[in-house]
Amino acid sequence: MPGRASGARHQTGSNRFKRRVVRYGHFDDEGREYVITRPDTPLPWINYLGTEAYFGIISNTAGGYSFYRDARLRRLSRYRYNNAPLDMGGRYVYLRDDDSGEFWSPSWQPTQNELEDYSCRHGLGYSIICSTYKGIRGETTYFVPLGENLEVWRIRVTNERKTQALVSLFDSIEFCLWEAQEDSTNFQRNYSTGQVEVEDGVIYHKTEYRERRDHFAFFACSASLAGFDTQRDSFLGPYRGWDRPIVVEKGKATDSVAHGWQPMGCHHVKLELAPGETKEVIVLLGYQENPKNDKFDPPGSQTINKKRVKPIIARYLQPAAVEQAFTDLRDYWTRTLGILQVRTDNEHVDRMVNIWNAYQCMVTFNMSRSASLYESGIGRGMGFRDSNQDLLGFVHMVPARARERILDIAATQLPNGGAYHQYQPLTKRGNNDVGSGFNDDPAWLVLGVAAYLKETGDSPILDEPVPYDNATGTETPLYEHLQRAIQYTLDRLGPHGLPLIGRADWNDCLNLNCFSETPGESFQTTENKEGGVAESVFIGGLFVLAAQELAGLAKLRGDNAEANRSLAASEQMTDVVQKAGWDGAWFRRAYDYFGKVVGSRECAEGQIFIEPQGMCIMAGIGLENGMAQRSLASVRERLATPHGIVLNQPAYTYYHLELGEISTYPEGYKENAGIFCHTNPWLMIAEAMVGNGERALDYYLRINPSAREEISEIHRCEPYVYAQMIAGKDAPTPGEAKNSWLTGTAAWNFVAVSQWILGIRAAHDGLRIDPSLPAGWGGFSAMRRFRGARYNITVHKAPGSAGRVTRLTVDGRETPGNLIPLPTRPGQSFDVEAFIQ
Ligand code: GLC
Ligand code: GLC
Repeated sequence: MPGRASGARHQTGSNRFKRRVVRYGHFDDEGREYVITRPDTPLPWINYLGTEAYFGIISNTAGGYSFYRDARLRRLSRYRYNNAPLDMGGRYVYLRDDDSGEFWSPSWQPTQNELEDYSCRHGLGYSIICSTYKGIRGETTYFVPLGENLEVWRIRVTNERKTQALVSLFDSIEFCLWEAQEDSTNFQRNYSTGQVEVEDGVIYHKTEYRERRDHFAFFACSASLAGFDTQRDSFLGPYRGWDRPIVVEKGKATDSVAHGWQPMGCHHVKLELAPGETKEVIVLLGYQENPKNDKFDPPGSQTINKKRVKPIIARYLQPAAVEQAFTDLRDYWTRTLGILQVRTDNEHVDRMVNIWNAYQCMVTFNMSRSASLYESGIGRGMGFRDSNQDLLGFVHMVPARARERILDIAATQLPNGGAYHQYQPLTKRGNNDVGSGFNDDPAWLVLGVAAYLKETGDSPILDEPVPYDNATGTETPLYEHLQRAIQYTLDRLGPHGLPLIGRADWNDCLNLNCFSETPGESFQTTENKEGGVAESVFIGGLFVLAAQELAGLAKLRGDNAEANRSLAASEQMTDVVQKAGWDGAWFRRAYDYFGKVVGSRECAEGQIFIEPQGMCIMAGIGLENGMAQRSLASVRERLATPHGIVLNQPAYTYYHLELGEISTYPEGYKENAGIFCHTNPWLMIAEAMVGNGERALDYYLRINPSAREEISEIHRCEPYVYAQMIAGKDAPTPGEAKNSWLTGTAAWNFVAVSQWILGIRAAHDGLRIDPSLPAGWGGFSAMRRFRGARYNITVHKAPGSAGRVTRLTVDGRETPGNLIPLPTRPGQSFDVEAFIQ
């Protein structure tokens, strides 16, 4: 990659927050790792293992769990959410000094000994937890090899003493009885179903394998065993916790075989270590399926047929195979992140764009909203709108999987153009419990497909036959799905001509037709009150944007009739929004059930909302008549805080029956005046669109987790990934983040900074270079792979200037405007220079 154009480096924004700096770790940008250097982080700081089907979450103290594809239906190991102490259940390893009888966990939890040199290196798809205790060093590398349904724990124990050491090692995992909800509720049954087999030191968990399950888990160890345990009670001892298992205390496994109760896995290994010697032990936890008619060996017995799994186990118990798999994983991430790399004047921009934000986008794509420390893996399926937005952040990295995702999502669409709000990842079917009627949902599909086509040029996808509601025989080309999505809004307009909101729009908590008075009733699924006319200005803006995108796709197909129809509809809606949706100084939010305005200076609470400001401006509404600029000034005056832009002001101070869940949250949290980070990038994009790169970057840095690292004590969540929410100014703890990792914030921030601030944007007809930079920057450089070509981009900017690109050259040739035309053959490489005077 070419060097940075010019300008100051390592601007940390230290003056942004006036606070004592307490560090829990630091970024290692070269190694693409965040290195946590004390175990007692304000909250567990987690990472994800797995890239395809087998996944896990892992905290900096080895807490977490694993699952195959679906965190609810195929959970392999147990984790105790909301436990005290926090973060209980994990991939715990114990070491015991067999001379003194002392024992500890190299990952700090669960024994919490005072460790020397503790570190946890969270990398891309792996974590390495390491520490020393009284001269014995324990280091465990946890990762999932590409293409395999297993995880590796590579444990290295080193004797740093001057004398020989006799050390016992115990690994441990508590098995989940597969269905996570049942596992944590149905004890009258569960306590009697658990079953295992132990063969050649491998522990096989096979609860329900005797009946309808064709899958089992395995827990294997490369060393020869001094013993094992598979019954939790034998391992821990009655009334004991994971902090002092009796087996570890005594230094002797009991060879228990689980029958009912709580099956677990533990291998006991004895190590003799000369001074300076290191020994490596490999542990595998994995998942395996067998064909229904070949489950047992010998046939007719009740013994698991292990002929498929044994070669896999044998392979990964070899150090060389593990080393190779780890290298392959590192290479996979180098390739994946290599699609876009930037060098700018700001280290927080660089490390988020080049490493962490991109990584979070991939994790969000894989997990949707299922499994994190805040999503229990039980509750939510894949969101229709969420998945379409997640796509915006990863489509350039794995376009083939984006294609598959689009077709899956579209197949759950309803014949009337509407959508199930959620679908299940295993079955890929719409979720009837949550139902449909969130009237913004379908429009996001159009944005997702448009982004995919701009990135790939794969126009044949529009002709793919896709069913509605997964019903065979209902297939139409994907293109028609998009047309029906647009028509869905047009078929549901309210008295002002604005789109009816249905159950809710993007803001799931603005339930204008709900009127719920029953405690505990779900705001998402309660039957709406009949006869409402609640309308959404936000969907108005979203519609304008989506209709323009559909017009763009129609033009690609030469369907001029559709292009004209969509553009006309978009103009018509723009008009309506500017009339019924404009409050004088900002865009209104909605009209409620009774036709009363929401998000207006006429309201006592909730006068202004962030979402319509962002969405309407992104759709281009008000750019030419000053409304956009006026709206942005209002955001700055009323919503912006040092920790980010809050969702609404003033916060709702009591429950408004006619508004719904938004007013159940105490002031400053979540949708009630929290900094709902997902929405902030919309304002960054809007600022960039009106040419205010300075403010766009400023907003960006306020919520950028790396830029907030120095206030970790306030922020509390991981400094390497975005959180869904940061407490707003009305909360008792402004700046405190919650719900890290699985949030649309990841995709939208990636879009805002890479496509609008840095301005590198895929288009149907080429790659656009349209930065909107802060005055102080001297330009930047970037490498982008796009449609099979490589672009080495240098942006030169006269310091002090804040304009747009005035001149563009490609391989030295002048190119009009700011668009680099599509490459003509694969493998091309271009040197691009853009100038901002
Ligand atoms: C959550 C939901 C998302 C919704 C947002 C705002 O993040 O997953 O669908 O748009 O909250 O309510
Ligand atoms: C709650 C949350 C919101 C989320 C919704 C759907 O309403 O506040 O953020 O979108 O639940 O599960």
